[in-house]
Amino acid sequence: MTCGVLSFLRLGYFRIGGLLVPMTFGMRVRLVLFAAVSLALAGCRHEPDQDPTDARLLELARDADGHVWYKGSDSFLPKSAGSGHTQALLRTRYNNVAGELLDANGQVLPDTVFADGSLIVKELWDDASTLSLYAILLKEPADPNADGNGWVWGYIQPDGTVLQPSSAQGAACRSCHSQEGNIDFSLMNKYFP
Ligand code: HEC
Repeated sequence: MTCGVLSFLRLGYFRIGGLLVPMTFGMRVRLVLFAAVSLALAGCRHEPDQDPTDARLLELARDADGHVWYKGSDSFLPKSAGSGHTQALLRTRYNNVAGELLDANGQVLPDTVFADGSLIVKELWDDASTLSLYAILLKEPADPNADGNGWVWGYIQPDGTVLQPSSAQGAACRSCHSQEGNIDFSLMNKYFP
């Protein structure tokens, strides 16, 4: 809006009923004042603030406290043939809520529907010393960014760069994660049996 006023000023015309009329000096002064005040109040902001859900997902993903690893191991796994990601290595962990639904072998129990509050974090690593990305699933139907199944999808770099906002509701993720053999949209069991 402010930027619109400024470009309008440069033109030096205003519009009445479809006609462009040159502005008088007084009009320009008033417009400049108006623009200056608006600019001071709002500024020319084009960047939206980070979505609070993305900020929260990052915070949750960073804190591995109390998490358990898939098959009980934090060793790196080579990315599977079905993985939609470029990074060579991965490992997946579950918070205490999601962890309740793993069997004695550390795999997701068949027919699991993850409980609200479940968090699954797949860490994607370029190599064994370079963590590149968090792929995140949080079961939280009350979140405004949750999809129709209650999952919030996150795709965020450790430095906070959001590669796929949770407001997209997993648009880039869901069709692949709906494939045959998924367990409540999770795929670890299928690709690392
Ligand atoms: C082309 C298919 C594909 C796409 C697209 C995809 N994934 Fe995955 N994802 C997988 C596969 C396969 C696994 C199992 C581990 C592996 O091989 O990477 C997986 C595992 C995961 C896991 C670990 C939990 C589990 O068991 O599934 C999370 C979390 C995850 N993906 C999040 C995402 C998010 C978020 C997106 C979208 C930004 C996404 N994925 C897009 C295929 C995909």
